[in-house]
Amino acid sequence: MTDPILFARLRHLAERAPIVVAHRGDSGDYPENTLPAFAAAVRAGAGMIEFDVHASRDDVLVCIHDETLDRTTNVVDIFGRRQVAVADSSAAELARLDAGTWKAPAHRGASVPTLEAALGVIQAGSIAMIEHKAGSAESLVGLLQRLELVDHVLVQSFTWDFVARVHALEPRIALGALGEGRWTDAHWANLPRTHARLVHWDVHDLVTEDVERLQKLGYLTCVYTANSDATLIGAATMGVDAITTNHPQRLQRLIQRGLARRRLGPPPEP
Ligand code: G3P
Ligand code: CA
Repeated sequence: MTDPILFARLRHLAERAPIVVAHRGDSGDYPENTLPAFAAAVRAGAGMIEFDVHASRDDVLVCIHDETLDRTTNVVDIFGRRQVAVADSSAAELARLDAGTWKAPAHRGASVPTLEAALGVIQAGSIAMIEHKAGSAESLVGLLQRLELVDHVLVQSFTWDFVARVHALEPRIALGALGEGRWTDAHWANLPRTHARLVHWDVHDLVTEDVERLQKLGYLTCVYTANSDATLIGAATMGVDAITTNHPQRLQRLIQRGLARRRLGPPPEP
């Protein structure tokens, strides 16, 4: 199997220290999944920027985590209704929402960005890690082809059939398989069918033996979501290739101080 060309770049980035992956942008300090959060993550030097994608009623791909708009927008003020689904809203309706004020009044005016707008900000200085939450593979692949980004972004999903579908449509796209829980025989059996070459797993569930086995098989490994110093250092010590965090600057500082160094070679004898 030939790796999509993005993987050569990712392997190079991960050589000396884990790649800093900004979770939903710089979501510790900015409203998640907004252009200000993505721009701040680029400024922080994040190697990759993770974010979540849903489809509007009229099939425009937008960046938001939840299925409904309530938690991260002022939808109740604007539409006077609760539990409004992204999938039931048009792109024009979504564009009227404020996705910043819930985080802090200073972030008022941040919008629910389209995927296209997000890619414009992120790809100027980092690499997009696009998490599919909803929407068709055809729409996502079509957009990436139109923007000539198929060689430059990574697409991932907890839905491994979706990952395989993206590969079938466009084999050049770098893919990630998301998951949680302890690794089982079923995971090992099903992973190759996804054509993912990066495995992105809950930091609480992955163990060093999994990391080593995956890396021996040629997979890049990434864990989500590590935020405290202790968790960040623990993840780095496991030897993963990338760490997803709400605090990209915190992880950068740890790396600069040598505290988040990847484990080199086997652990010392007890
Ligand atoms: O991409 C890893 C992580 O974001 C998956 O969980 O719920 O934050 O989308 P969630
Ligand atoms: Ca996500």
